[in-house]
Amino acid sequence: MDALELLHQRRSAGKLADPAPSAVQLDALYRAALRAPDHKEMKPYRFIEFSGAGLDRLGDIFAESDRQSEPDISDKHLASARKKAKRAPMIIAVIADITPDSKKVPPVEQIITAGCAAHAMLYAAYAQGLGAMWRTGTYAHDRRVWKALGLGKNEELLGYLYLGQPAGKLRGAPKEAYDKFVERWNG
Ligand SMILES: Cc1cc2nc3c(=O)[nH]c(=O)nc-3n(C[C@H](O)[C@H](O)[C@H](O)COP(=O)(O)O)c2cc1C
Repeated sequence: MDALELLHQRRSAGKLADPAPSAVQLDALYRAALRAPDHKEMKPYRFIEFSGAGLDRLGDIFAESDRQSEPDISDKHLASARKKAKRAPMIIAVIADITPDSKKVPPVEQIITAGCAAHAMLYAAYAQGLGAMWRTGTYAHDRRVWKALGLGKNEELLGYLYLGQPAGKLRGAPKEAYDKFVERWNG
């Protein structure tokens, strides 16, 4: 696939089917992640890869998050929370690993780098015909989930990349006018 075609056409896939990305495909994803622009080459990220029974463990963490927020929660609701970790055959949690006292690179730059790494993974997925979608929501923001996933005090969960085979046809990329986002100083 042509590089510009990839940049212009990439789409997220909400519905994902088996199988999970292969080892070769994942290698391409992580190599793309590590090419994210990175001030002072801090590599301020890490990833947790969930598949198989790992997805059940993640689903239990999602359900526990809901149970803590709402102690009287029904079993049906808990089951639906667990199912959210089964919407794809693989989920990769993207974590920013921040050095708070860096002299040259403020935390926001490190978070941006980790976000760029996630974005690069989406492109690498699309380029290989995989389906991918970046999701956040409650389970990405709940500090109890962060703790259950073992995040350290200087780490932030940026979201989950859901990965698998795109189930159904992806929507075409919209042709959007960009001029309203661009201010030009030419003289
Ligand atoms: C940080 C971040 C968090 C997101 N969280 C969600 C989410 O929780 N649920 C959702 O439906 N889309 C979420 N999205 C948007 C989708 O990943 C996707 O970009 C959007 O549906 C548009 O599709 P496209 O990527 O094909 O343009 C998120 C995107 C980003 C960058």
